[in-house]
Amino acid sequence: MNATDSEPERTVEDAAAQGRLLSLTAERPAAGGTFVARHEGRVVFVRGTAPGETVTARLLDDPEQAADARFWRAEAIDVLEAGVDRVPSVWAEAGVDGVGGAEWAHIALPAQRRIASEVMQELLQRAGVTSYPIEDVQVEPATHDMDGLGWRTRVRFAVDADGAVGMRGWRSHEVRSVGENPLAAQAIRDLDLGSWTAPEGVEAIDVVAPSAGPPAVVLIGRELDPASVSIPDSWGDADVAVRTAQGLTPLRGDGTVTERVGERLFTVAATGFWQVHRRAAELLTEVVSGDLAAPRGGSVWDLYGGVGLFAAAAAEQVGQDGSVVSVEGNRRASQLAAENLEDLRQVSTATADVTDWVRARRGGVDVVVLDPPRSGAGAELMELLTKVVRERIVYVSCEPSTLARDLAVAEKAGWGIVDLRVFDLFPHTHHVESVTVLERPLR
Ligand SMILES: C[S@@+](CC[C@H](N)C(=O)[O-])C[C@H]1O[C@@H](n2cnc3c(N)ncnc32)[C@H](O)[C@@H]1O
Repeated sequence: MNATDSEPERTVEDAAAQGRLLSLTAERPAAGGTFVARHEGRVVFVRGTAPGETVTARLLDDPEQAADARFWRAEAIDVLEAGVDRVPSVWAEAGVDGVGGAEWAHIALPAQRRIASEVMQELLQRAGVTSYPIEDVQVEPATHDMDGLGWRTRVRFAVDADGAVGMRGWRSHEVRSVGENPLAAQAIRDLDLGSWTAPEGVEAIDVVAPSAGPPAVVLIGRELDPASVSIPDSWGDADVAVRTAQGLTPLRGDGTVTERVGERLFTVAATGFWQVHRRAAELLTEVVSGDLAAPRGGSVWDLYGGVGLFAAAAAEQVGQDGSVVSVEGNRRASQLAAENLEDLRQVSTATADVTDWVRARRGGVDVVVLDPPRSGAGAELMELLTKVVRERIVYVSCEPSTLARDLAVAEKAGWGIVDLRVFDLFPHTHHVESVTVLERPLR
């Protein structure tokens, strides 16, 4: 398409002068948290609205430059006729020209889940998935999550040239105030970084609120001198580290955080991957454990294994006579997985690209759990797995579009979906997490 990627106009007057203001009525949901509207027959994907409502929207594309584009993109700036799903936003600072990361904060929580279910169903349908009743795919809340608030245990803050701490706007480099940041875990809100002025050289701040032990603050700056940082008293017992182009320098603590799932503790690099919702690791472990049903003495591969979350669960199932391999591309995460699971003799770790590693295997495996990044597993890995896995593939996904694509590949190879659950692990955003179980056809 010809659409430009320019920043939206900063004032309504500018947008109006450029012919970028339109009155639009949102129809069905589309991917990316937007809704489909139509203007003179052309599809416009509108952000910041809800089904059935009419809004004044600011075009993000220049209508002259994008005159031939198949579709335009727009952002609602004023509600002319509210839809039934609209509620007062849970995060005022996330509205128009506000911070990114809560694009559905103005939609009632049950409606968010209904809309995400519709998007997921449509993606599965479009990918040609046929082995599972698609209408049964419904987004479920995380256990004990009543209001979708206080769930985010990892937050990236941005810092402007004057040291003010906030978050970036949607499609913008501007640093904006986060206000109360109601999606963040209480331990992150307690640090009150919004009222702190960062020293020169701090470009961003990662804050982590783990389930065990103190929170961690990582100050990020290519040229930041760790000696120039003094830790404010208001950060209490938080661990603090500085990350520069040269690596991580812990100022207090050792640059890791501790997460607890059941009885087991996991050490995670403060800036490394861990499930973000405070209930996610526990919930996904429970669901994946149930789905794996790995045979006693059997074999499991935990692909994209991180610091060993699912490998620990698999190890319990196969017992000491079984084998579990955790495959992870990030060297530090893989090292931590080995340390986290060193008491489980049946677990080994491999630091490798997953597809390369699976391609190089000679023998097969009973069960696989895979949890790739948003880009998904891809056709080659899915085809390989359908050949070497003897019983079951449990696919954990945070991106429905790549999941749908990958499931279609497995179906083409004759595999079928026996379960597909979707969880609202990112409330007030359009993102969801899912767990799909694929089984080999009976031979
Ligand atoms: C969504 S996380 C899942 C981690 C783990 N399963 C968990 O729940 O904590 C994806 C992981 O895959 C790793 N990764 C990404 N691309 C990879 C690749 N091509 N090969 C191996 N690991 C990869 C990332 O470093 C990250 O740890």
